[in-house]
Amino acid sequence: MSKKLLSVLLSTAMVAALLVGCGNSAAETEAPATEEAAPAEEAATEEAPAEEAAPAAESNGTKVGVSMPTKDLQRWNQDGANMQSELEAAGYEVDLQYANNEPQTQVSQIENMISNGANVLVIAAIEASSLGEALDMAKAADIPVIAYDRLLMNSDAVSYYATFDNYKVGVTQGQYIVDTLDLDNAEGPFNLEITAGDPGDNNAPFFYNGAMDTLKPYIESGKLVVKSGQTAFEEVGTPQWKTETAQSRADNIISSFYADGTNIDVWLCSNDSTALGVETALANSYNGEYPIVTGQDCDIENTKNMIAGKQSMSVFKDTRTLASQVVKMVGQILNGEEVEVNDTETYDNGTGIIPSFLCEPVFADANNYKELLIDSGYYTEDQLQ
Ligand code: GAL
Repeated sequence: MSKKLLSVLLSTAMVAALLVGCGNSAAETEAPATEEAAPAEEAATEEAPAEEAAPAAESNGTKVGVSMPTKDLQRWNQDGANMQSELEAAGYEVDLQYANNEPQTQVSQIENMISNGANVLVIAAIEASSLGEALDMAKAADIPVIAYDRLLMNSDAVSYYATFDNYKVGVTQGQYIVDTLDLDNAEGPFNLEITAGDPGDNNAPFFYNGAMDTLKPYIESGKLVVKSGQTAFEEVGTPQWKTETAQSRADNIISSFYADGTNIDVWLCSNDSTALGVETALANSYNGEYPIVTGQDCDIENTKNMIAGKQSMSVFKDTRTLASQVVKMVGQILNGEEVEVNDTETYDNGTGIIPSFLCEPVFADANNYKELLIDSGYYTEDQLQ
């Protein structure tokens, strides 16, 4: 049997060992992958003496380029690390790059991955439509592209999309507000402010719409009042999800509309990096009763704030689950198998619907973070001290 064929077969065996459905609890995702990867490695040793097992780099079709947007936001470091470790455990060679939130840097990095022989590209875009020339190069080289967590827009080079149910993230935030304020029964009105995500990120409108579709009836009935008057996505977005930008806008809103001690009852934040900015502004210049604050990603600082009562909830998107799903899709693509998707209707990237796999986002707050984040091994107790 040729080295190349053996190596591909072994890689397939390793990937098969990693076939972990998306949406498993982190613990389930973590344990079988680790346990099952070992037998495959042993098989490699049993069937082909170590000195003969071609390393992934020399194998045909096992080189994966992983392009992440930035190291500035915690979650992308986890996404990249999880994917790299799972892909390497499956016998792939991984070229993982972070683009420092600079779209042109991301284009260059992806072009280099292609020049260096990537067989599949996994890309979390900084800006949804900024990678055209790199994606055209991928298409010309017949390299499949998986859009990771953020849909790549206006390109026919995108093969698949792997993410969480982004609209459901927003609905989870909105419904939490409805339930916590008991908007169906309470007298009100309640004061609401809104901080949404990066207008350049295709996910951001999904988060915003999920929440606002849930809250709109209460805004229209006057039970929820936005004193700043800023409700349109274009008014409440936060370029590159920057904490500082969210803080500055919240400072302005507080000083302009709440300086007299009027209560802000709830601040809808689309993710944790923007929630952190709002929480800092509240700590610096707000004197009313502390509001409900929503978030997403269960970042360490925000989880600490949840424990301290400075953030009410977050939406947990286990990056290990998403990484496992992408590893599975990479294996299915490279082995010419049918790629498992569970949504072929929602995500039109401007050139048509992109077959997608949506993982389940999970509600998190101070009551369930231990089970969700510590018991599952996502964080250690020390990390949250
Ligand atoms: C979004 C992602 C969110 C959050 C945000 C900031 O695309 O879906 O989970 O991480 O970026 O990076």
